[in-house]
Amino acid sequence: MSCAFVILRSSGQRLECTADHPNLLTTLEAHNLCIEFQCREGYCGLCRTRLIKGEVHYTEKPLAFLQKGEILPCCCLVTEEIEIEL
Ligand code: FES
Repeated sequence: MSCAFVILRSSGQRLECTADHPNLLTTLEAHNLCIEFQCREGYCGLCRTRLIKGEVHYTEKPLAFLQKGEILPCCCLVTEEIEIEL
């Protein structure tokens, strides 16, 4: 994964996603941000959050139901600057 940044809407904080973060959830955890999660595999939908700007990618289509604008941090890859509702 190339270097990219995640902007948090609430605080304006800018987090760096580095090559050792396999997904967005790992990036959030690496910056001591806790969000709810359970399966970490795209099944349960608990980690669901809203994407405000940019796009994320999935290596496999997640099974959890997603509405337009929602993403699953546990299984999505960040390859460009994004902003999320957190
Ligand atoms: S933790 Fe289950 S879908 Fe993300």
